[in-house]
Amino acid sequence: MAIWAVVPAAGKGERFGAGLPKQYLPLCGRSLISYCIELFLAAERIDGIVVALAGDDEDWEQLEPQAPAKPLLTATGGSSRAASVSAALGVIADRVDEKDWVLVHDAARPCLARSDLEQLIDTLEDDEVGGILAAPVADTLKRADGASRVAATVDRNGLWAAQTPQMFRFGLLRKALDEALSAGTPVTDEAMAMERAGYRPRLVAARSANPKVTRPDDLVVAEAVLAANGVVESKR
Ligand code: C5P
Repeated sequence: MAIWAVVPAAGKGERFGAGLPKQYLPLCGRSLISYCIELFLAAERIDGIVVALAGDDEDWEQLEPQAPAKPLLTATGGSSRAASVSAALGVIADRVDEKDWVLVHDAARPCLARSDLEQLIDTLEDDEVGGILAAPVADTLKRADGASRVAATVDRNGLWAAQTPQMFRFGLLRKALDEALSAGTPVTDEAMAMERAGYRPRLVAARSANPKVTRPDDLVVAEAVLAANGVVESKR
């Protein structure tokens, strides 16, 4: 079975407020997105990569690796993450079989450890459906009322925080995403589209920190994780 990495990177990162799409923010002298692209280029089990870019993207060209050792394609993303992933799947449709795997990974998660990538693939490669990297929720969870007061404490037992990569069979994921998009049902990750289609994705516990960069502070955390993983030099 072939395995393709799909990197949705067509978001504007408006929550971050840097005036630059967050996938291109500098992190230890390189752009955020370059960390996952390098990991996927170096990973022997990944056969190709497709990156979904915004229609008005001006940054990818400058950092696109020259002469990559495996196919590195681009797609024009859409107005939601699901639309961007669907567009990326469309670009590889001629190159993959229905049962081949796609591994969807947020451009905004630069710290994915090679060992977690391997673990995800090892755990899921014989699975009928696929699954996601995730972590059991550690915080006590509160549900808010409309006035920023606690309406209830939510039992965190059995709750997991979804991460990426999310690994699914090409055919099933494409159908599930396209059905959700046609129905106008918002899906915030690929697993949600698969759940909507009646599947139960497997949860694979991440062993290393794999934070999503959402706020400026997250860059500091990401740098520390990259240093701990030996990806960049430690400043300490
Ligand atoms: O905004 P958020 O952090 O949830 O985005 C997750 C990933 O989805 C990011 O890598 C972002 O670039 C991507 N995305 C996309 N197309 C959109 C919205 C988000 O590719 N329309």
